[in-house]
Amino acid sequence: MLKELWEARKRLVERQLKQELCDGAPLDQTLEEAMAYSLLAGGKRLRPILLMAAADAVGADGTKFVTTGCAIEMIHTYSLIHDDLPAMDDDDYRRGKLTNHKVYGAGMATLAGDALLTLAFEVMLRQQGVSDAVRLSVVREMSQAAGMDGMVGGQAIDLESEGKSIPLERLRQMHLGKTGALFRAAIRSGALLAGAKEEQLAALTQYADSFGLAFQITDDILDVTGDEAAIGKPVGSDERNHKSTYVTLFSLERAQQMADEAVERAVAALATFGGEAEFLRELVRFLRDRKQ
Ligand code: IPE
Ligand code: IPE
Ligand code: MG
Ligand code: MG
Ligand code: MG
Repeated sequence: MLKELWEARKRLVERQLKQELCDGAPLDQTLEEAMAYSLLAGGKRLRPILLMAAADAVGADGTKFVTTGCAIEMIHTYSLIHDDLPAMDDDDYRRGKLTNHKVYGAGMATLAGDALLTLAFEVMLRQQGVSDAVRLSVVREMSQAAGMDGMVGGQAIDLESEGKSIPLERLRQMHLGKTGALFRAAIRSGALLAGAKEEQLAALTQYADSFGLAFQITDDILDVTGDEAAIGKPVGSDERNHKSTYVTLFSLERAQQMADEAVERAVAALATFGGEAEFLRELVRFLRDRKQ
């Protein structure tokens, strides 16, 4: 079920992304091209897929919320473009292609990221079939997750931790910020759009936090053990940049164990859900042996 549903939803997201981006004649053709270059470059589309799966889990049809899914994919793609910039991780490949700044230059890549972030908020407001109050709650969720106490805050800890040995608690905060925050927003937004009850939202939030942690630990592992062709980005980037990761702070084996424990916690968080949450369970288990 995992592969088929994933592929079908991925196709849905990709079709919609094109539509949301190319909505009328752009003020600047190169900027739109640079945005499309990274946004339509592939990628697992995990955040929109999680958003829809969370809505499914509370009994809705998740595909109704693909528009908001596209919005979070835009925020994620912007974060990748900026993360790869020479002033940050200085990477040359992403999603199996040259990074944005390698093709369009650092200035245009910065702008493409900025424009994807702002477009995301416009797209969120295009979501049909929900009340203004729900739409607003999603905007609040996404802006908190993307900003100083979320993704950007985590990236700041990451920058400041280069070349240092940081305490585990700080590393955990960094992961929950730079990666966990968007997963949390994806899942909570899906739940909010679908009208989740308070206790469902709480359980899904727990799932999301464990998912995010497990995901970034496996990203750290793949930076060491991954196959470049499969992951579509360079291996060894963390070592070159003297990053603090679960692998550098512990060992590959211990990092893998910690990822496994987080996966178990994520599955346990869904104990009160039935078959509607099976896709969420399968998604987090996929993390355990992901190669891409
Ligand atoms: C990569 O995210 C950046 C991290 C947050 C670790 P993904 O592994 O989801 O990247 P894509 O979207 O599939 O390219
Ligand atoms: C960055 O983490 C996560 C983002 C917010 C983009 P990494 O720097 O480890 O992500 P990759 O490995 O380059 O995808
Ligand atoms: Mg980085
Ligand atoms: Mg990076
Ligand atoms: Mg990484």
